[in-house]
Parts: sequence; structure tokens; C-alpha cells
Amino acid sequence: MAWSKIGKSDGLKQGKIKEYNINGKKILVSNMDDKFYAIDAICSHLGAELAKGKKDNNTIICPKHRAQFNIQKCQKRYYSG
Ligand code: FES
Repeated sequence: MAWSKIGKSDGLKQGKIKEYNINGKKILVSNMDDKFYAIDAICSHLGAELAKGKKDNNTIICPKHRAQFNIQKCQKRYYSG
């Protein structure tokens, strides 16, 4: 994937997440300790929008079936279903 400019770093405050559409693909960007991480904004289980999920430290919890995604490692951590 190529690099894409999405805005200025001060546009996303510490601890916040925001969804961006980059070339038709939804990406979730998080600012954690002024480091920026990006993951797919669509849950890999059944396609829920992770931006509607809950953020808990470095984890996004899917709003549908509560799969957990580690933002910093860009990987699924847990799925109870
Ligand atoms: S759609 Fe995300 S856990 Fe099922």
C-alpha cells in the first residue's frame, strides 16, 4: 500500500480515533502518545464498522460481536464467538 496524506498531525488529538476514506478503503487512524497507527476500519469477522466500537487503551472492540483489535500491533486479539 502506498503512503497517503490524510491531514495534519494536530487534527487528531491524543487518545482519539478517526475514520478516513483513502482511495475507497476505510482506514481507522489512532493517535496514541503522539504516535499514529492505522488499521482496517472494517471488522474482519462480519464487516462491522470499527469506528462505532469502543476504544479501550490500545484496543478497539467491535460493536457487533466484540472482537478486539490491538491498534498498535494491527492485529485481532480476541474473539469470543
Ligand atoms: S462483526 Fe466484528 S466481531 Fe463480528
